Amino acid sequence: MFLLNATDHDLIACAREAAVEPFHIALYGCGTVGMGVARMLLGRGALQERLGERIRLKYIVDLRLDEVRDELQPPEGVVLTDDLEAPLRDTEVQAVVELLGGTTIALEVVEKALRAGKDVVTANKALLAQFGDGLYRLARERGRSIAFEAGVAGGIPVVAALRSGLVGDRVESLYGIVNGTCNYVLTQMLERNIPYEEALVEAQREGYAESDPRLDVEGLDSAHKLAVLSRLAFGVNIELDDIPCDGITGIELSDLRYADALGYTVKLLAVGIRREAGLEVRVHPALLRHSHPLSSISGVYNAICVHGDHVGEWVLTGRGAGRRPTASAVVADIVRVALGTYQVQFAQLAQFGAVPAADLAPIGEVRTRYYLRLDCMDRPGVLASVAGILGEEQISLASVRQQETAAREGEFVPVVLMTHKAREVDVQRALERINRLEVIYGARTRMLRVEDV
Ligand code: HSE
Repeated sequence: MFLLNATDHDLIACAREAAVEPFHIALYGCGTVGMGVARMLLGRGALQERLGERIRLKYIVDLRLDEVRDELQPPEGVVLTDDLEAPLRDTEVQAVVELLGGTTIALEVVEKALRAGKDVVTANKALLAQFGDGLYRLARERGRSIAFEAGVAGGIPVVAALRSGLVGDRVESLYGIVNGTCNYVLTQMLERNIPYEEALVEAQREGYAESDPRLDVEGLDSAHKLAVLSRLAFGVNIELDDIPCDGITGIELSDLRYADALGYTVKLLAVGIRREAGLEVRVHPALLRHSHPLSSISGVYNAICVHGDHVGEWVLTGRGAGRRPTASAVVADIVRVALGTYQVQFAQLAQFGAVPAADLAPIGEVRTRYYLRLDCMDRPGVLASVAGILGEEQISLASVRQQETAAREGEFVPVVLMTHKAREVDVQRALERINRLEVIYGARTRMLRVEDV
C-alpha cells in the first residue's frame, strides 16, 4: 500500500486539471475527410464519452464558406473562416489539422504552424513524401510534432503499430495494398466484369480517389505512402523519384481473368524489402497467389503485411480510404497529441530524427517471377521464336497458355507466359526483342511481376 503525502496530492490534482483543460484545434480543409473530422469532433460519439468536451474545434478554415456552413451548420463558438493566418496567430490554438491536400498552401500552413509552436496533424502523404525530412526536423527543433496516421492507410493504425507495437523489431519486408481506389477498381472490374473506366468513376463517386485520380491509378499515391512508411519501417529517407512506380492504368480485364484462371489475384502493391544489395522499393501491380493473405483484400480495403525479425509475419487490414475511416485516423492522432503521448515518441524515436538516405538496390537486379501476355500471330514457329529469345536471356518458362479465340490462322491471339524467377533487366531486354518481332503485336504486350511470397 502507498501512502500519499501532500505533494503527491498536489501533483495528482495538477494532472487532473491538465487532463481536463480544453485543447483547441484549427481544422484546415473541410472537404471529404475534413467534414468527417468536424462531425466527429462536434458530435456525441465515443470520443465525447471517453474525453468529454476536452477537444475544442475552434476554427474551420476553408474557402467554400457557404458550402461548409450549409453542410455542417457549425455550432456557436466554432469560427468558420477563409483567413489562413487567424488561427496561426491565436495562441489558444495548440494544434493545426491540415487536410487541405496538395503541397503548396499545405506546406506553408504546416511550416507556419510549427514555427508558431503548434503541433500538426495531417493526412497529406504527398507533403510528407516530398518535404517530410525538413518538416520533421523543423518540428523537432521547435519541440513540436507531426502526426500522420491518416496519411498512410486510411483507417488502419499502421503508423501506430510501426512506431509502437513493433518498435523493437527490425522490419525485414513490407508489402502493402495502400491505395483504396486502385484496389476498389481492380476488385470491381473482375467481380462485375466491367471495364477499368467504369470502375474508376464509381471509386471517385464514393469519395475514395484523390482530387486528381491520376495520383491513385498511376501509383504515385502508393509511392508517397511507401516513402512515408519506409522511414518508419526501415529508418531511412527515400526520395520519391527513386521509387520505381507503375500504376494500374494499362490493366485490362482480360489480364485479371487470365491471372485468376492461373490461381492469382492482381493487386497494386507497395513493396519494401531489405536485400544484401540494399533496400528494394517499388510500386506496381503484381500477381499474388489466391492463398496469399493480401490476395483476398478487396474493394476499398487496404492491408499491410510486415515481416519483423522477432514478431514474424503480421498483417493489418481495414478501410484505406473514404470519409469516415480516414476521419477516424485523424481524430485518433488529435487525441494522441491532445494527451501529449505522441509528442514524446516523436521527440525520441530515431525515425523522426535525422535518418540516413536509403541505400537502394537497383530495380534491374530485382528477381521475381513474371506474367507476360503477348499478342502473337497464330501461325507456326511463333512460340518457338519467343521461347528462343527468353532462353537466350536466361529466362525459364514455367507455363505457357494460348487463349483460344475465334481468330483465324494468321491473326493475333493472346498467349500468357509465366516464368520462373528471372532478373528484371533480363526480362526487359527480352521483351524489347520480342516486341520487335513481326509476329508480335508489341504495343499490346503486358508484363506483370509475380510476388511469390
Ligand atoms: N486516394 C486514396 C486512396 C485515399 O484511394 O487510397 C487515401 O489516401
